[in-house]
Amino acid sequence: MRFLITAGPTREPLDPVRYLSNRSSGKMGYAMAEAAIDAGHEVILISGPVDIDRPRGAAVIPISTSDQMFRAVHQQARNCDVLVMCAAVADYKPANVSKSKIKKRDASLSLELIPTPDILASLPKQDRQYVVVGFAAETENVEANAQKKLQEKHCDVVVANDVSRADSGMESDENEVTILFRGGEIKKLSRAPKKIVARELIKIFANVSEKRLTKKIA
Ligand code: PMT
Repeated sequence: MRFLITAGPTREPLDPVRYLSNRSSGKMGYAMAEAAIDAGHEVILISGPVDIDRPRGAAVIPISTSDQMFRAVHQQARNCDVLVMCAAVADYKPANVSKSKIKKRDASLSLELIPTPDILASLPKQDRQYVVVGFAAETENVEANAQKKLQEKHCDVVVANDVSRADSGMESDENEVTILFRGGEIKKLSRAPKKIVARELIKIFANVSEKRLTKKIA
């Protein structure tokens, strides 16, 4: 099976030396890339800037901004069986990028931010040949907010994690997730190292893809 996995943060430039970003370390996405390779799948990993070794056996496409991530996902998605959007893509970017370094002044400085294009929501909704997995990074009402993302972003599966905790979610080596399926089923994986959680998730996604294929053939 061919997996397309996104990982890490995006960086939205303000000027040649500054950017807006988030704390995503890439650990969850890279663990999934490794788990998929170990299970015998092909992996293309679209990665934001992270400080982790490339998973051996994965084709890595490095990107920096949400626009680059958008283009890379659209170029690669039609050739995959499962798309896993684990990256923490910025929701907003500066409306204007200064060509020169913004000078320090005594007055306060306001930034105008505009929404980035939503990659998941921009994917074809009908006759899609691949399974689409979104991640939901939540700080409150985890399950309800993830359910909303499942519907609004037209995902087949959403993996929700609580990113308000220090011992799980963003940057941590461990994660605890709730998996929501389009058919209404919900499954929970208790807190464990991201490598273990990743192995379970890859099995689940491969299973969803196989079931869909069997349905099509039957
Ligand atoms: O990298 P780690 O430190 O290991 O942390 C892992 C993680 C917490 C980043 C990961 O498990 C996770 O939750 N990733 C999704 C982060 C996120 O952006 O969540 P969100 O709820 O804001 O977005 C929902 C989904 O929409 C995500 O699949 C995201 O990739 C996608 N999205 C977001 C913005 C955008 N412009 N386009 C998108 O497609």
